[in-house]
Amino acid sequence: MNVLGIETSCDETGVAVFDTSLAGAAGLRAHAVYSQIALHAQYGGVVPELASRDHVRKLLPLIRQTLDKAGLSTADLDGVAYTAGPGLVGALLVGAGVARSLAWALDLPAVGVHHMEGHLLAPLMEDDPPEAPFVALLVSGGHTQLVAVDQIGSYRLLGETLDDAAGEAFDKTAKMMGLPYPGGPQLAALAEQGTPGRYKFSRPMTDRPGLDFSFSGLKTQVLLAWRDSDQREDTRRDIARGFEDAVVDTLAIKCQRALDAAGSNVLVVAGGVGANKRLRAKLQESAARNGGRVCFPRPALCTDNGAMIAFAGALRLEAGQHNDAQVKVTPRWDMATLQAV
Ligand code: KG4
Ligand code: ZN
Repeated sequence: MNVLGIETSCDETGVAVFDTSLAGAAGLRAHAVYSQIALHAQYGGVVPELASRDHVRKLLPLIRQTLDKAGLSTADLDGVAYTAGPGLVGALLVGAGVARSLAWALDLPAVGVHHMEGHLLAPLMEDDPPEAPFVALLVSGGHTQLVAVDQIGSYRLLGETLDDAAGEAFDKTAKMMGLPYPGGPQLAALAEQGTPGRYKFSRPMTDRPGLDFSFSGLKTQVLLAWRDSDQREDTRRDIARGFEDAVVDTLAIKCQRALDAAGSNVLVVAGGVGANKRLRAKLQESAARNGGRVCFPRPALCTDNGAMIAFAGALRLEAGQHNDAQVKVTPRWDMATLQAV
């Protein structure tokens, strides 16, 4: 089954074709992402109306380009998957409108995918995928959640952030230290060259039981440290390193707790912060120490993309699940309400 996936929930236009008849990573026939970073950079953040308009401009050419790359035409498609939420309502409507129109014209089933389910299932697109049950850490710009995955589509929230998401903390901290938008990956790159231990920040909420997170206090600690410093380049690197170590340690501690609570030794990590090298190394280390397993998507599939939507949609379409023909999106959407596959 060839499924076209369309992602437009925020500031990336993503398109992909996933073929369920091919095993493992080979199933991803083609994917392309157009990032709007340059468009929003001058405003220091995503401007929703500009995002919607840019999706309108980029989506159809990107679909043509992706089909070309896969060596397919629309006649080869068996289904369409699109992000139906959560996300920016205008941006979501562009993807849903195009997906629904294509499905109508080609007489194909189409399914609205939950963006975070897309992220969560992305590691399963790779070779040698883990099987449920497992625990998932979802770390993106808008979410930080630990989820018990009993089976595909059946998700129990174990813990989440009470304030900033991990990616948001990276972005805001980067901005405070004068890095251009979007700062998260740039802060991580700076931290690479920083000296560990020169700046030590707290590991929020690890001193008490529970699986929730809080990153806004950490952000303030970093702001104070930066303000009171000499603000030299080496200091910026060292503070970045101290911040990254604090976030990574905190995530790793809570992941272990969640695995213990769920009685599992398989951890799946997804979302933009899952591309962070130090987080990947730290969780690999803990898994090796505990005889467990940790699975990530390749870094390009950690951040927003159409492949994860094509894949998550394909699992549902194969199970006979699809939505009716109305263009409907759900900007706020609780993953626990999804139907099991
Ligand atoms: O999943 P994603 O692409 O979009 C959302 O659904 O939010 O995640 C984007 C987030 C941003 O906050 C970005 O700063 C963060 O992921 N991010 C990183 C890295 N790459 C992306 N954070 C830390 N280290 C990275 N290497
Ligand atoms: Zn995302």
